[in-house]
Amino acid sequence: MKVRKAVLPVAGLGTRMLPITKVVPKELLPVIERPTVEYVIDEAIQSGVNTLIFIISQGKGKIIDYFDIDLNLRSFLKERGKTDLLEKVKEVEEKIKYLIEVRQKVPEGLGHAILMAEEAVGKEPFAVLLGDDLVDADPPCLKQMLEVYQSLSLKVSRVSLIAVEEVSWEHISRYGIIDGEKVEENLIRIKNVVEKPAPEEAPSNLAIIGRYIFDPVIFDYLKRIPKVNGEYQLTDAIQLMVDEGHEVYAYLSKGIRFDTGNREGFFKTILHYACKDPKLEDVLKSFCQKRFQI
Ligand code: UTP
Repeated sequence: MKVRKAVLPVAGLGTRMLPITKVVPKELLPVIERPTVEYVIDEAIQSGVNTLIFIISQGKGKIIDYFDIDLNLRSFLKERGKTDLLEKVKEVEEKIKYLIEVRQKVPEGLGHAILMAEEAVGKEPFAVLLGDDLVDADPPCLKQMLEVYQSLSLKVSRVSLIAVEEVSWEHISRYGIIDGEKVEENLIRIKNVVEKPAPEEAPSNLAIIGRYIFDPVIFDYLKRIPKVNGEYQLTDAIQLMVDEGHEVYAYLSKGIRFDTGNREGFFKTILHYACKDPKLEDVLKSFCQKRFQI
């Protein structure tokens, strides 16, 4: 079955980026002149997914506003003859074909946020992309995954697929780590998922990143997991699903991944995307020469 829908949970509080996230959702923090979440949406659209289901909360409405048509702005830019800017604005406003907005009234974790999408998703497989995780890859990360998913789903019923990347052992306790059996190059059948393990207890250095393709059976498991420290953890639902015989695979994706949800990660993201723009790369080089004599 084709994956037509993607869920974007953007309802979290973004506490690691306080104080700015008091007033600006972290998914709207700009990487150059576009918000973080737009890169994620571009990835979904370039991968062929046209229905985007946003899980939002209080104060996050600006994320939706960004993709709305602003007729006043359009006529202002038109009157002033600012055609280039008008085209840029139109491109953003016409980007998303079908947008569904669902509210998560209380931020009870990623697992809870995804469960909010049950009605909107229905009974078909769907993707989940985290709005603060960027993956710069060609082909886009989700597209790579959809290809792997299509061939897996011919062999395995109700299969799910999760993207992972290798992380350094010293940072392992920041991630959900998988344990499993390699079945193909870049493909692992998951046996266990361990949330934020100590390095000596981690079964591997393969960390889950913010890209998933789920069979809708995940919703049954999200309803059954307990709340831990005020949150429903997605990894608990994945573990339960595996324990009860559902096959879940991890795909070691190609590309570079950035976590924009913390200061260092956000800063690295900006530097990376600046270096992809020849003009900004020159600015960065000359800045570094002057500032650091390098
Ligand atoms: P994070 O844990 O990175 O987001 O969740 P957070 O909770 O906003 O961040 P901190 O830890 O307080 O800094 C990953 C994604 O899941 C969403 C977030 O918006 C983010 O995109 N999320 C998280 C929800 O939609 N709802 C939640 O209850 C929690």
